[in-house]
Amino acid sequence: MTKDAYHILNGPKQAFLLGNALQVDVKRLHQNLEQWANEFGDIYRIRLGPSKHIVITNPDIIHEIMRGRPDKFRRMEKMDSIFREEGVHGVFNAEGEEWKIHRKLVAQGLDVRHQQQYFPAILKTTERLMNKWKGMKTPFDVQKDLMRYTVDVTSSLAFGYEMNTIQMGEDVIQNHLEKIFPTIFKRINAPIPIWRYYKSKADKEFDYAFKQINVLIDEFIEKGKEKLDNNPELKEKPSNFLEAILVEAEQEGSISNTEIRGNLLTILMAGEDTTAHTVAWMIYFLSIYPEWQEKILKEVSPYLNNGVITDYTQLSNLKIVEAIANETMRLKPVAPLLLFEPLEDIEVKGYLFAKERKLLVQTRHAAVNESYFSDGDSFNPDRWMNIEKCPHLKHELKAFIPFGSGPRYCPGRNLALTEIKMIVAMLCGNFKFKLTNEPKEIEEIMAFTMMASSFDLCIENRQTI
Ligand code: HEM
Repeated sequence: MTKDAYHILNGPKQAFLLGNALQVDVKRLHQNLEQWANEFGDIYRIRLGPSKHIVITNPDIIHEIMRGRPDKFRRMEKMDSIFREEGVHGVFNAEGEEWKIHRKLVAQGLDVRHQQQYFPAILKTTERLMNKWKGMKTPFDVQKDLMRYTVDVTSSLAFGYEMNTIQMGEDVIQNHLEKIFPTIFKRINAPIPIWRYYKSKADKEFDYAFKQINVLIDEFIEKGKEKLDNNPELKEKPSNFLEAILVEAEQEGSISNTEIRGNLLTILMAGEDTTAHTVAWMIYFLSIYPEWQEKILKEVSPYLNNGVITDYTQLSNLKIVEAIANETMRLKPVAPLLLFEPLEDIEVKGYLFAKERKLLVQTRHAAVNESYFSDGDSFNPDRWMNIEKCPHLKHELKAFIPFGSGPRYCPGRNLALTEIKMIVAMLCGNFKFKLTNEPKEIEEIMAFTMMASSFDLCIENRQTI
């Protein structure tokens, strides 16, 4: 093929200047794209103002793009410029050789060996959450508590800083983080970078949040360096991510403070919403299908010690919790949209993608499609446990991409699964719960990550039932 695929693909009818911009609702962009995929197939084109995009839901093409990084494809350039103008140089927005250095640094800081060292912090935070929930007499905003949980865990393992927002309420870091995602998503979708010429109140808050958080992180870095100098034995066994990457950075030699700071902030941002929203969607399904709460209770009971799992190695036995996590991420992936660009003209599966063409990858459309998963729309965790017993059922793992694919696959996956198992085991082990809202009232909202609209949870302590 010699012609740029954009010019030969089908797609929704475009208006003269705005293209399809008025047909999309940014908060529901992932759903708009899914509807168009039903109409125009697993690869089609759209235009948002002057921005021409190819939308891809075909898993074979998606994997080839993701695996072609960093040499043939990159994340969308706009993402990097949005992060860099706020001073963030980290693994999520780095490319090429720079990315390779960042990736090694971050992947080692998050590997299983280090994770076992971080487990006491996760355990302590899970106990705090349980104690808080034991005192809950009225329905409460569970999503807020889950965000507090993940920000407490991430800041504790990132810097050794005990935030304890679960018991104490908001903290400066969390307040700043809350301002960041919605504005990043708005800026990515803005047809022109208005904020560079005129700053709205949200833009000013966003800039301020980054500035403040950078100052705080710099202080942590200085303290971390001092601690390592005074306790050289920590170089063998770092007690948090900051110490681990400071040791790595010392060995690598060429990593600046700005890059260390960028990666700490990246970890904070990447670890908060993603995991909290995934658990919130799990709670949503477990409330609609309470029989699974009982199955989890049975699975986790042998391992609970005063209401929580205290032995990291036992988490690998939680196959039902794992199946529910997978089924939830298949139906409600918190990162359903990923944005890439080819670094040169590249042909993939017969389509020519011109250099810098914007590729909008939509990961859920295939994951709920009958061609890849039988009865794809239904919540059925059994499909993850008994697949070998049902060879006639479709279960195509290539269409299940909640953590991405290829060399830039999410390095926080294991940490996320540890947190998910710890919270869900504690929740089902101690409580029965249900939503106070009708499930159909709960909507999907896209704000960089895909979250559930607000809902309240009503919980009953099992010991007092
Ligand atoms: C359920 C929770 C999570 C989900 C669904 C998730 C999903 C993703 C996805 C889809 C990507 C893009 C992958 C790609 O481009 O191929 C990603 C990247 C990343 N995630 Fe996660 N993530 C989760 C939790 C975490 C946690 C807990 C951390 C760390 C504390 C983390 C750190 C990162 C980083 C640093 C990247 C960038 C990797 C790179 O560009 O090389 N994530 N994640």
